Amino acid sequence: MHDKTIGVVGAGQMGAGIAQVSATRGFEVLLYDVDEEALNRALDRIKGSLEKLSGKGTLSEEEKRDALGRIRTATSLKSCKDAFCVIEAAPENAALKKEIFHQLGEMVHADAILASNTSSISITLLASVTAHPERVAGMHFMNPVPLMKLVEGIRGLQTSEETFLKVKALAQHLGKEFIEAKDAPGFVVNRILAPMINEAIYAYSEGLATAEDIDKGMMLGTNQPMGPLTLADYVGLDVILAVLEVLHEGFGDPKYRPAPLLRQYVTAGWLGRKSGRGFYQY
Ligand code: 3HC
Repeated sequence: MHDKTIGVVGAGQMGAGIAQVSATRGFEVLLYDVDEEALNRALDRIKGSLEKLSGKGTLSEEEKRDALGRIRTATSLKSCKDAFCVIEAAPENAALKKEIFHQLGEMVHADAILASNTSSISITLLASVTAHPERVAGMHFMNPVPLMKLVEGIRGLQTSEETFLKVKALAQHLGKEFIEAKDAPGFVVNRILAPMINEAIYAYSEGLATAEDIDKGMMLGTNQPMGPLTLADYVGLDVILAVLEVLHEGFGDPKYRPAPLLRQYVTAGWLGRKSGRGFYQY
């Protein structure tokens, strides 16, 4: 096992951010995705973010170069087999994540940690398909990962104390604050954030106010850095819908019912910033 290597599975916004902070903090990173293009886009995103940080003086030129030098990419999951920790950041699809965890469980070393960055899918479920469920935990980063200070740690039913403490230590080593959550739909952050965004979408779809005024109201009235509709576009409307579906199904409570307009936007491919259109045009 390479004690300094972190595997990151999935090269989307979150995977790229996790790879970036891991490399910046001195770890070797293996960023895996099935899609070569996604890996190239992730590297461009990481370079752009590191440029911004070094432009602001947060990172030196040397630190930026070293961080980039520590990131390798791969299109075979097997390349993660020697990592001391693999952080999965694949799309929010339980079947896909279960398949990844099953495969990872077969290939990593006996004391490696398997962590998921899932926004809401049960850690107990993901652990259940691995050979060693006690070594699985949730490690939920926030978007944009290089700037957001929080990692939410989630204990699955089977997660051992040793695993959880290692995940906590790793998050702190990555420069993040840590909170602990039980394994229930949405954990802490999305349990509270997703219903707020959903309510903003209901309000918008009822014509209560314009998108701009809903966002302005929440920004200036409650000091949020982004209004809820802007934030939904930023995170991705498909991600918000997936989280709400997990909350709705998991609790069986109609208060979590996704706004029909959200579902319609996702069906239309209006996913927010990443597709060029959501509640706003980009
Ligand atoms: N890397 C490096 N620098 C970045 C960056 C990145 N990825 N993104 C933005 N920046 C920099 C900008 O260049 C800018 O630098 P400057 O001050 O020198 O101009 C600075 O950060 C501020 O950016 P902006 O001026 O563009 O915008 P803001 O002042 O609004 O800050 C923000 C951006 C930090 C994203 C802020 O709007 C914010 O905190 N928004 C809320 C984000 C949030 O709530 N995230 C959690 C979402 S929920 C989640 O992730 C869970 C998931 O499971 C759904």
